[in-house]
Amino acid sequence: MDFLLENYRWIRAFHIISVIAWMAGMFYLPRLYVYHAGVPVGSAQSELFKVMERRLLRVIINPAMIATFLFGGMLLATPGVVDWSAGWIHLKLTAVLVMSAYHGFLARWRKAFEQDRNTKSAKFYRWMNEVPTVLMIVIVIAVTVKPF
Ligand code: HEM
Repeated sequence: MDFLLENYRWIRAFHIISVIAWMAGMFYLPRLYVYHAGVPVGSAQSELFKVMERRLLRVIINPAMIATFLFGGMLLATPGVVDWSAGWIHLKLTAVLVMSAYHGFLARWRKAFEQDRNTKSAKFYRWMNEVPTVLMIVIVIAVTVKPF
């Protein structure tokens, strides 16, 4: 506990850094799907998108999510940081849960592209691209403004 209290600001800083990396990937990957859905299966462009998507998910998005949860969990465990009777933390963690489910769908859609069996349109992925933006806005307002 002493470690968490003494290093609270460092842990919060690393939490925010990992959040930024996670969100950067969550905004970029569905954008790649928008373009990938518009090129022919088996084309050189499609094969290039497969490499980009695989690396973005495995090298950036997955590790950043793990780091966000690790440092976020340490903040939850730090005495005095969270008042569980307040509403903001429940709103935040619910939105984080939905964000994590969305992450799961991104991974599933990537596999479909990789196996040339994507059936969804560029328009579908354009709409899906808005989901993490809305969730991020809800999460950041909940944790910084703590409105209730
Ligand atoms: C399992 C995932 C997460 C957990 C357990 C978690 C938990 C926390 C906790 C307990 C704090 C400290 C609040 C305080 O010091 O008052 C915090 C800070 C913060 N979290 Fe998270 N968080 C998670 C995911 C996220 C995500 C996905 C985002 C953004 C999209 C985010 C954005 C922030 C920001 C911006 C702060 C700093 C707030 C400030 O300094 O005022 N967190 N988080």
